[in-house]
Amino acid sequence: MALVRRQFDAIVVGGGGSGLRCSLQLAEAGLKVAVFSKVFPTRSHTVAAQGGIGASLGNMSEDSWLWHMYDTIKGSDYLGDQDAIEFMCREAAKCVYELEHFGMPFDRNPDGTIYQRPFGGHSQNFGEKPVHRSCAAADRTGHAMLHTLYQRNVRANCQFFVEWMALDLIKDQEGRILGVVALEMETGEPMIFQAKATVLATGGAGRIFQSSTNAFINTGDGLGMAARAGIPLEDMEFWQFHPTGVAGAGVLITEGVRGEGGYLLNSEGERFMERYAPTMKDLASRDVVSRSMDQEIKEGRGVGPEKDHVLLKLDHLGAETINKRLPGIREIAMKFANVDVTKQPIPVVPTCHYMMGGVPTNVHGQVVVPQGDNHSAVVPGLYAVGEVACVSVHGANRLGTNSLLDLVVFGRAAGNHVTKFIQDDPKQPDLPKDAADFALARLARLDTTVTGESVSEVGAAMRKTVQVHSGVFRTGSLLAEGVAKIREIAARSRNTAIKDRSKTFNTARIEALELENLAIIAESTLVSGEARQESRGAHSREDFKDRDDKNWLKHSLWYMDGSRMAYKPVNLKPLTVESFEPKVRSY
Ligand code: FUM
Repeated sequence: MALVRRQFDAIVVGGGGSGLRCSLQLAEAGLKVAVFSKVFPTRSHTVAAQGGIGASLGNMSEDSWLWHMYDTIKGSDYLGDQDAIEFMCREAAKCVYELEHFGMPFDRNPDGTIYQRPFGGHSQNFGEKPVHRSCAAADRTGHAMLHTLYQRNVRANCQFFVEWMALDLIKDQEGRILGVVALEMETGEPMIFQAKATVLATGGAGRIFQSSTNAFINTGDGLGMAARAGIPLEDMEFWQFHPTGVAGAGVLITEGVRGEGGYLLNSEGERFMERYAPTMKDLASRDVVSRSMDQEIKEGRGVGPEKDHVLLKLDHLGAETINKRLPGIREIAMKFANVDVTKQPIPVVPTCHYMMGGVPTNVHGQVVVPQGDNHSAVVPGLYAVGEVACVSVHGANRLGTNSLLDLVVFGRAAGNHVTKFIQDDPKQPDLPKDAADFALARLARLDTTVTGESVSEVGAAMRKTVQVHSGVFRTGSLLAEGVAKIREIAARSRNTAIKDRSKTFNTARIEALELENLAIIAESTLVSGEARQESRGAHSREDFKDRDDKNWLKHSLWYMDGSRMAYKPVNLKPLTVESFEPKVRSY
């Protein structure tokens, strides 16, 4: 089949915060850049980020990038790479001021500076007390950021392909990435997009879980594309459970509520976080708060007829503060929990929120594949930024506000690197003759198979398996059972069929393709989780309760080919300062 082919200098797959920050850098450098998005860009999942972006501006309490760096390393349970963390924390203020100058409508202090609120795990003076570090636009910071970046991209003449889904990377014999095959969702037509550089910015994959704060579009398409191209997925056992998802609905209630002074209560009306984290209390890191909530529920101090959630109290903040700082939360609580937060607490439960793992990259966003013996090789022409990437600044547990920061710091850095890569040698290699064959074969299977399984049934089995077998607390036997189940489900995901085509929307094909990607991620999650025999950050094993730095201070790598594991060392050497040596973590 002869496909239409289009050529760009660079293509960015994903129109969320990291994709748009990267494409802006490219378009402003005068490059011909295309952005692909399954939804209108301002509907990307970044829009749902609420509480703020972390930067040590020091507008409301003394702060320094070194304290931010320490908090991030400690939050990561020492699995984060310290060179990348130093880079991110040092770049933070510059990137936030840049957003301010782009026109992002941050909240303001009376003196005109950006408003900052405390957030979980962020502290003054290496853990002494909470610090005001989260730069906020009410509780709609991601919304404000995404609209600002989109408008700047339009102004810079970036070209958008809206409601397009990228299917697979195009790779030549020498291992270079030369673009993607993408599908126009409305017509179902595939097309070849050739480019000197391809940037994956497809976000996370929280839709592998039954209960998730993630949008339905978060199906890990970039991870699936990378895994099918032979690239390993790093640290996939580490999934963050946000402490405050609305019980029963999963919708996010920002940590900013606790930053503004809200707190958690059990069925006895006790502010239980004081027992688990005497210094930071409700503002301990998310893994600690989620585990504490789970523990309270397990020990019978949960709330409600099923005793299956706890309460988030904020009425004492007063209607004025709530309406000014947390208007979106008031709306969400009313719609999804039927409570008026000026009078009643919100029922909350830990809910899957963020993927710490991803496609391995360096600080320039280049995809880097370990080759053994501490060597690694860049995949020429391929970059990844944002949640799809593992650089790794979040290690085993991300601090709140560091995700928006990661998007802009590494989106910008990758944009700079891609620009130089293209300007140094703009010539594009020829495409191999079989450039589109792999992606077309996947489509052809879906178009011809009539006897396969139902996409929704396989999807439901996958979500249930991941939820039950890799939740907040895990055990070896639970994970092993999960691995066996998920391997079977992954095979089934590649044998689905769209039945009764004449009565089916054209999105059925998209859902089947998304499920293939999700199943890859689910398998990598369970296999990596079973392999890691320790507890670290968000990976909490009841059969290996302690962190084991001697054997497990290393990043995991899952290869789709053979579903096999490999490992690489953590970079404990920062760029300019002394290392922060692993120590016992308490809040
Ligand atoms: O709680 C929140 O507002 C979420 C922030 C984040 O995930 O960084």
